Amino acid sequence: MARILLTGGAGYIGSHTYLALREAGHEVTIIDDFSNSDPEVIARLARIAGGDVDLHVGSILDRAFLAHVFAERRIDGVVHFAARKAVGESVALPLDYFETNIWGLTLLMQEMRAAGVWRIVFSSTATVYGDPETFPIPETAPLSHASPYAFTKLTCERILEQAAAADPWVTGVLRYFNPVGAHPSGLIGEDPRGIPGNLMPYIAKVALGELPRLTVHGADYDTPDGTCWRDYIHVMDLARAHVLSMGQLLEGKSHVLNVGTGRPVSVLEMHRAYSDVVGRELPHAIGPRRPGDVPRLYADPARARAELGFEAQYDLEEMCRTSWAWVQAQAAGWRFNC
Ligand code: WQD
Repeated sequence: MARILLTGGAGYIGSHTYLALREAGHEVTIIDDFSNSDPEVIARLARIAGGDVDLHVGSILDRAFLAHVFAERRIDGVVHFAARKAVGESVALPLDYFETNIWGLTLLMQEMRAAGVWRIVFSSTATVYGDPETFPIPETAPLSHASPYAFTKLTCERILEQAAAADPWVTGVLRYFNPVGAHPSGLIGEDPRGIPGNLMPYIAKVALGELPRLTVHGADYDTPDGTCWRDYIHVMDLARAHVLSMGQLLEGKSHVLNVGTGRPVSVLEMHRAYSDVVGRELPHAIGPRRPGDVPRLYADPARARAELGFEAQYDLEEMCRTSWAWVQAQAAGWRFNC
Protein backbone atom coordinates (compact mmCIF):
# COMPACT_ATOMS: atom_id res chain seq x y z
CA MET A 1 0.00 0.00 0.00
CA ALA A 2 1.85 3.18 1.10
CA ARG A 3 4.11 4.47 3.88
CA ILE A 4 2.40 7.21 5.85
CA LEU A 5 4.16 9.53 8.28
CA LEU A 6 2.16 10.61 11.35
CA THR A 7 3.42 13.72 13.12
CA GLY A 8 2.22 13.56 16.73
CA GLY A 9 1.34 9.92 16.18
CA ALA A 10 1.59 9.07 19.90
CA GLY A 11 -1.24 11.47 20.72
CA TYR A 12 -4.93 10.76 21.21
CA ILE A 13 -6.12 10.97 17.59
CA GLY A 14 -2.73 10.10 16.11
CA SER A 15 -2.49 6.77 17.97
CA HIS A 16 -5.98 5.70 16.89
CA THR A 17 -5.20 6.75 13.31
CA TYR A 18 -1.98 4.70 13.46
CA LEU A 19 -4.02 1.58 14.17
CA ALA A 20 -6.58 2.38 11.46
CA LEU A 21 -3.83 2.90 8.85
CA ARG A 22 -2.06 -0.34 9.83
CA GLU A 23 -5.40 -2.19 9.66
CA ALA A 24 -5.88 -0.76 6.15
CA GLY A 25 -2.54 -2.31 5.15
CA HIS A 26 -0.36 0.79 5.16
CA GLU A 27 3.15 1.01 6.61
CA VAL A 28 3.27 3.80 9.19
CA THR A 29 6.06 5.90 10.68
CA ILE A 30 5.46 8.03 13.80
CA ILE A 31 7.34 11.13 14.81
CA ASP A 32 6.60 12.55 18.25
CA ASP A 33 8.48 14.53 20.90
CA PHE A 34 6.19 13.30 23.72
CA SER A 35 5.61 16.91 24.82
CA ASN A 36 1.90 16.11 25.15
CA SER A 37 1.78 12.31 24.91
CA ASP A 38 3.04 9.24 26.78
CA PRO A 39 5.81 6.99 25.38
CA GLU A 40 3.85 4.07 26.87
CA VAL A 41 1.39 4.51 24.00
CA ILE A 42 4.02 3.24 21.55
CA ALA A 43 4.34 -0.09 23.36
CA ARG A 44 0.57 -0.43 23.43
CA LEU A 45 0.28 0.29 19.70
CA ALA A 46 2.87 -2.42 19.06
CA ARG A 47 0.85 -4.84 21.18
CA ILE A 48 -2.48 -4.03 19.49
CA ALA A 49 -1.17 -3.87 15.91
CA GLY A 50 1.54 -6.50 16.24
CA GLY A 51 5.19 -5.95 15.37
CA ASP A 52 7.34 -2.93 16.13
CA VAL A 53 6.24 0.67 15.73
CA ASP A 54 8.50 2.68 13.42
CA LEU A 55 9.15 5.65 15.73
CA HIS A 56 11.44 8.65 15.41
CA VAL A 57 11.56 10.84 18.53
CA GLY A 58 11.90 14.54 17.81
CA SER A 59 10.17 17.86 17.23
CA ILE A 60 8.59 19.17 14.06
CA LEU A 61 10.38 22.45 14.92
CA ASP A 62 13.73 20.68 14.43
CA ARG A 63 14.29 20.98 10.70
CA ALA A 64 17.39 18.75 10.68
CA PHE A 65 15.35 16.05 12.45
CA LEU A 66 12.61 16.30 9.82
CA ALA A 67 15.17 16.14 6.99
CA HIS A 68 16.69 13.04 8.61
CA VAL A 69 13.32 11.26 8.74
CA PHE A 70 12.57 12.00 5.07
CA ALA A 71 16.07 10.84 4.15
CA GLU A 72 15.62 7.60 6.13
CA ARG A 73 12.14 6.68 4.93
CA ARG A 74 10.39 6.80 1.54
CA ILE A 75 7.20 8.59 2.63
CA ASP A 76 4.12 8.60 0.38
CA GLY A 77 1.96 10.90 2.51
CA VAL A 78 1.86 12.73 5.83
CA VAL A 79 -0.92 13.12 8.40
CA HIS A 80 -0.07 16.17 10.49
CA PHE A 81 -1.38 15.95 14.07
CA ALA A 82 1.51 17.55 15.98
CA ALA A 83 0.15 20.86 17.29
CA ARG A 84 -1.01 22.64 20.41
CA LYS A 85 -4.78 22.35 20.77
CA ALA A 86 -6.09 23.92 23.98
CA VAL A 87 -8.23 26.96 23.23
CA GLY A 88 -7.87 28.47 26.70
CA GLU A 89 -4.10 27.94 26.80
CA SER A 90 -3.77 29.61 23.40
CA VAL A 91 -5.25 32.83 24.84
CA ALA A 92 -2.51 32.86 27.51
CA LEU A 93 0.35 31.70 25.23
CA PRO A 94 -0.43 32.90 21.69
CA LEU A 95 3.20 33.03 20.55
CA ASP A 96 3.75 29.40 21.56
CA TYR A 97 0.70 28.48 19.45
CA PHE A 98 1.93 30.52 16.47
CA GLU A 99 5.38 28.89 16.73
CA THR A 100 4.25 25.28 17.09
CA ASN A 101 1.18 25.33 14.88
CA ILE A 102 2.07 27.74 12.08
CA TRP A 103 5.89 27.58 12.04
CA GLY A 104 5.72 23.83 12.63
CA LEU A 105 3.50 23.28 9.58
CA THR A 106 5.75 25.54 7.48
CA LEU A 107 8.92 23.62 8.41
CA LEU A 108 7.20 20.30 7.84
CA MET A 109 6.05 21.38 4.39
CA GLN A 110 9.51 22.73 3.54
CA GLU A 111 11.07 19.34 4.27
CA MET A 112 8.23 17.50 2.49
CA ARG A 113 8.84 19.69 -0.56
CA ALA A 114 12.58 19.01 -0.42
CA ALA A 115 11.82 15.28 -0.35
CA GLY A 116 9.20 15.47 -3.10
CA VAL A 117 6.39 14.40 -0.70
CA TRP A 118 3.26 16.31 -1.72
CA ARG A 119 0.35 14.61 0.09
CA ILE A 120 -0.70 15.98 3.49
CA VAL A 121 -3.78 15.45 5.65
CA PHE A 122 -4.15 18.41 8.01
CA SER A 123 -5.84 18.24 11.41
CA SER A 124 -8.14 21.26 11.52
CA THR A 125 -11.08 22.10 13.76
CA ALA A 126 -14.70 23.20 13.79
CA THR A 127 -13.68 26.24 15.83
CA VAL A 128 -12.79 27.87 12.49
CA TYR A 129 -16.57 28.37 12.14
CA GLY A 130 -16.64 30.73 15.13
CA ASP A 131 -20.26 31.27 16.28
CA PRO A 132 -22.16 30.01 13.21
CA GLU A 133 -25.68 31.03 12.21
CA THR A 134 -26.67 28.17 9.89
CA PHE A 135 -27.12 24.57 11.02
CA PRO A 136 -26.04 21.95 10.36
CA ILE A 137 -22.75 23.69 9.47
CA PRO A 138 -21.54 23.21 5.87
CA GLU A 139 -17.91 23.61 4.83
CA THR A 140 -18.99 26.76 2.98
CA ALA A 141 -19.99 28.51 6.23
CA PRO A 142 -18.12 31.76 7.02
CA LEU A 143 -14.76 31.22 8.74
CA SER A 144 -13.44 33.19 11.70
CA HIS A 145 -11.20 32.82 14.71
CA ALA A 146 -12.27 33.62 18.25
CA SER A 147 -8.98 32.38 19.80
CA PRO A 148 -5.28 32.24 18.88
CA TYR A 149 -5.76 28.46 18.53
CA ALA A 150 -8.49 28.92 15.92
CA PHE A 151 -6.37 31.63 14.25
CA THR A 152 -3.48 29.15 13.86
CA LYS A 153 -5.72 26.49 12.34
CA LEU A 154 -7.36 28.93 9.93
CA THR A 155 -3.93 30.31 8.96
CA CYS A 156 -2.65 26.77 8.34
CA GLU A 157 -5.61 26.12 6.06
CA ARG A 158 -4.69 29.25 4.10
CA ILE A 159 -1.02 28.17 3.94
CA LEU A 160 -2.09 24.84 2.40
CA GLU A 161 -4.27 26.65 -0.15
CA GLN A 162 -1.55 29.09 -1.18
CA ALA A 163 1.24 26.51 -1.26
CA ALA A 164 -0.88 24.42 -3.63
CA ALA A 165 -0.91 27.33 -6.08
CA ALA A 166 2.90 27.14 -6.35
CA ASP A 167 3.65 23.39 -6.09
CA PRO A 168 1.76 20.11 -6.74
CA TRP A 169 0.45 19.75 -3.18
CA VAL A 170 -2.47 17.37 -2.64
CA THR A 171 -4.15 18.39 0.61
CA GLY A 172 -6.86 16.97 2.85
CA VAL A 173 -8.18 19.41 5.47
CA LEU A 174 -10.30 17.67 8.11
CA ARG A 175 -12.31 19.95 10.40
CA TYR A 176 -12.85 17.89 13.56
CA PHE A 177 -15.86 18.53 15.72
CA ASN A 178 -15.58 16.97 19.19
CA PRO A 179 -13.52 13.76 19.33
CA VAL A 180 -14.38 11.46 22.26
CA GLY A 181 -14.20 7.81 23.30
CA ALA A 182 -11.39 5.27 23.21
CA HIS A 183 -10.13 2.19 21.41
CA PRO A 184 -12.28 -0.92 22.16
CA SER A 185 -9.23 -2.66 23.64
CA GLY A 186 -9.17 -0.12 26.49
CA LEU A 187 -5.41 0.21 25.97
CA ILE A 188 -5.33 3.67 24.42
CA GLY A 189 -7.57 6.70 24.78
CA GLU A 190 -7.68 10.37 25.69
CA ASP A 191 -5.15 11.01 28.46
CA PRO A 192 -5.26 14.73 29.30
CA ARG A 193 -2.71 16.02 31.79
CA GLY A 194 -4.13 17.76 34.87
CA ILE A 195 -7.79 18.68 35.24
CA PRO A 196 -9.51 18.14 31.87
CA GLY A 197 -11.07 21.13 30.11
CA ASN A 198 -13.11 19.00 27.74
CA LEU A 199 -16.49 17.59 28.74
CA MET A 200 -16.13 13.82 28.40
CA PRO A 201 -12.73 13.43 30.11
CA TYR A 202 -14.05 15.67 32.90
CA ILE A 203 -17.16 13.53 33.39
CA ALA A 204 -14.89 10.46 33.36
CA LYS A 205 -12.88 11.87 36.30
CA VAL A 206 -16.15 12.51 38.16
CA ALA A 207 -17.19 8.91 37.50
CA LEU A 208 -13.84 7.73 38.91
CA GLY A 209 -14.40 9.86 42.01
CA GLU A 210 -11.30 11.93 41.23
CA LEU A 211 -13.43 15.08 40.81
CA PRO A 212 -16.45 15.87 43.00
CA ARG A 213 -18.99 16.83 40.36
CA LEU A 214 -19.55 18.04 36.82
CA THR A 215 -20.24 21.75 36.61
CA VAL A 216 -22.46 22.42 33.61
CA HIS A 217 -21.20 25.64 32.05
CA GLY A 218 -24.50 27.40 31.56
CA ALA A 219 -28.07 26.14 31.19
CA ASP A 220 -29.61 29.29 29.73
CA TYR A 221 -28.65 28.85 26.08
CA ASP A 222 -31.13 28.76 23.21
CA THR A 223 -31.27 24.95 23.03
CA PRO A 224 -34.01 22.52 24.12
CA ASP A 225 -32.50 21.85 27.55
CA GLY A 226 -30.59 25.14 27.80
CA THR A 227 -27.12 23.52 27.57
CA CYS A 228 -24.72 23.76 24.64
CA TRP A 229 -24.97 21.46 21.66
CA ARG A 230 -21.85 19.80 20.27
CA ASP A 231 -21.17 17.18 17.60
CA TYR A 232 -19.31 14.44 19.47
CA ILE A 233 -17.62 11.91 17.22
CA HIS A 234 -15.97 8.67 18.30
CA VAL A 235 -12.20 8.74 17.85
CA MET A 236 -12.40 5.41 15.98
CA ASP A 237 -14.69 7.03 13.41
CA LEU A 238 -12.37 10.03 13.22
CA ALA A 239 -9.37 7.73 12.67
CA ARG A 240 -11.19 5.96 9.85
CA ALA A 241 -11.93 9.33 8.22
CA HIS A 242 -8.16 9.93 8.05
CA VAL A 243 -7.60 6.63 6.26
CA LEU A 244 -10.28 7.54 3.72
CA SER A 245 -8.83 11.05 3.34
CA MET A 246 -5.32 9.69 2.66
CA GLY A 247 -6.86 7.29 0.15
CA GLN A 248 -8.26 10.26 -1.75
CA LEU A 249 -4.87 12.03 -1.66
CA LEU A 250 -3.20 8.91 -3.05
CA GLU A 251 -5.61 9.31 -5.97
CA GLY A 252 -4.66 12.97 -6.30
CA LYS A 253 -7.89 14.41 -4.92
CA SER A 254 -7.71 17.32 -2.47
CA HIS A 255 -10.57 18.20 -0.13
CA VAL A 256 -11.76 20.29 2.85
CA LEU A 257 -14.26 18.34 4.95
CA ASN A 258 -16.18 18.42 8.20
CA VAL A 259 -15.70 15.29 10.28
CA GLY A 260 -18.72 14.95 12.54
CA THR A 261 -21.87 12.90 12.98
CA GLY A 262 -24.34 15.69 12.15
CA ARG A 263 -26.20 14.77 15.38
CA PRO A 264 -26.00 17.44 18.12
CA VAL A 265 -25.79 16.33 21.75
CA SER A 266 -26.25 18.67 24.73
CA VAL A 267 -24.13 18.76 27.86
CA LEU A 268 -26.97 17.32 29.94
CA GLU A 269 -27.58 14.57 27.36
CA MET A 270 -23.89 13.65 27.55
CA HIS A 271 -24.06 13.65 31.34
CA ARG A 272 -27.11 11.37 31.24
CA ALA A 273 -25.52 8.99 28.70
CA TYR A 274 -22.35 8.67 30.76
CA SER A 275 -24.33 8.16 33.97
CA ASP A 276 -26.30 5.37 32.26
CA VAL A 277 -23.06 3.63 31.22
CA VAL A 278 -21.57 3.95 34.72
CA GLY A 279 -24.85 2.77 36.23
CA ARG A 280 -25.46 5.65 38.62
CA GLU A 281 -26.38 9.34 38.51
CA LEU A 282 -23.10 11.25 38.38
CA PRO A 283 -23.09 14.39 40.59
CA HIS A 284 -23.48 17.62 38.71
CA ALA A 285 -24.43 21.26 39.25
CA ILE A 286 -25.40 24.10 36.93
CA GLY A 287 -22.78 26.85 36.86
CA PRO A 288 -22.19 30.05 34.91
CA ARG A 289 -21.47 30.11 31.19
CA ARG A 290 -17.84 29.50 30.16
CA PRO A 291 -16.40 32.50 28.27
CA GLY A 292 -15.91 31.75 24.58
CA ASP A 293 -18.44 28.91 24.37
CA VAL A 294 -20.85 29.02 21.45
CA PRO A 295 -24.39 27.60 21.86
CA ARG A 296 -24.33 25.19 18.93
CA LEU A 297 -21.64 23.48 16.86
CA TYR A 298 -22.66 20.50 14.74
CA ALA A 299 -21.60 19.39 11.30
CA ASP A 300 -23.30 18.94 7.99
CA PRO A 301 -21.57 15.62 7.17
CA ALA A 302 -22.87 15.43 3.59
CA ARG A 303 -19.65 16.36 1.80
CA ALA A 304 -17.55 13.78 3.71
CA ARG A 305 -20.17 11.19 2.82
CA ALA A 306 -20.06 12.21 -0.86
CA GLU A 307 -16.28 12.61 -1.23
CA LEU A 308 -14.94 10.00 1.21
CA GLY A 309 -17.90 7.66 1.56
CA PHE A 310 -17.55 8.43 5.28
CA GLU A 311 -20.35 8.13 7.84
CA ALA A 312 -19.85 7.94 11.59
CA GLN A 313 -20.80 4.49 12.93
CA TYR A 314 -20.34 4.73 16.71
CA ASP A 315 -23.27 6.06 18.78
CA LEU A 316 -23.26 8.08 22.02
CA GLU A 317 -23.52 4.99 24.23
CA GLU A 318 -20.40 3.50 22.62
CA MET A 319 -18.57 6.81 22.99
CA CYS A 320 -19.28 6.76 26.73
CA ARG A 321 -18.77 3.01 27.20
CA THR A 322 -15.33 2.95 25.54
CA SER A 323 -14.29 6.05 27.46
CA TRP A 324 -15.38 4.50 30.77
CA ALA A 325 -13.53 1.22 30.07
CA TRP A 326 -10.37 3.15 29.18
CA VAL A 327 -10.32 5.44 32.22
CA GLN A 328 -11.01 2.52 34.56
CA ALA A 329 -8.06 0.60 33.10
CA GLN A 330 -5.87 3.68 33.47
CA ALA A 331 -7.02 4.27 37.07
CA ALA A 332 -6.21 0.62 37.88
CA GLY A 333 -2.64 1.51 36.93
CA TRP A 334 -2.82 -1.13 34.30
CA ARG A 335 0.66 -0.89 32.89
CA PHE A 336 0.95 -3.06 29.87
CA ASN A 337 3.69 -5.72 30.01
CA CYS A 338 4.60 -5.47 26.36
C1 WQD B 1 -18.12 20.97 25.22
C2 WQD B 1 -19.31 21.54 25.97
C3 WQD B 1 -18.72 23.28 27.50
C4 WQD B 1 -16.53 20.92 30.42
C5 WQD B 1 -12.96 22.18 22.43
C6 WQD B 1 -12.09 22.97 21.54
C7 WQD B 1 -12.11 22.40 20.15
C8 WQD B 1 -11.75 20.96 20.19
C9 WQD B 1 -12.62 20.17 21.17
C10 WQD B 1 -9.47 20.93 19.49
C11 WQD B 1 -19.23 23.06 26.10
C12 WQD B 1 -19.32 22.08 28.24
C13 WQD B 1 -17.25 21.27 29.29
C14 WQD B 1 -17.14 20.99 31.70
C15 WQD B 1 -19.16 21.78 30.67
N1 WQD B 1 -10.37 20.84 20.49
N2 WQD B 1 -18.54 21.70 29.42
N3 WQD B 1 -18.44 21.40 31.78
O1 WQD B 1 -15.28 23.66 23.84
O2 WQD B 1 -16.74 22.34 22.21
O3 WQD B 1 -14.28 22.26 21.96
O4 WQD B 1 -12.53 20.84 22.45
O5 WQD B 1 -9.64 20.86 18.31
O6 WQD B 1 -11.21 23.14 19.38
O7 WQD B 1 -12.64 24.28 21.49
O8 WQD B 1 -15.34 21.13 23.89
O9 WQD B 1 -15.51 19.47 25.67
O10 WQD B 1 -14.50 21.75 26.20
O11 WQD B 1 -16.95 21.55 25.81
O12 WQD B 1 -20.34 22.16 30.76
O13 WQD B 1 -16.54 20.68 32.77
O14 WQD B 1 -19.28 21.03 27.30
O15 WQD B 1 -19.18 24.49 28.07
O16 WQD B 1 -20.53 23.59 26.01
P1 WQD B 1 -15.49 22.45 22.99
P2 WQD B 1 -15.50 20.95 25.45
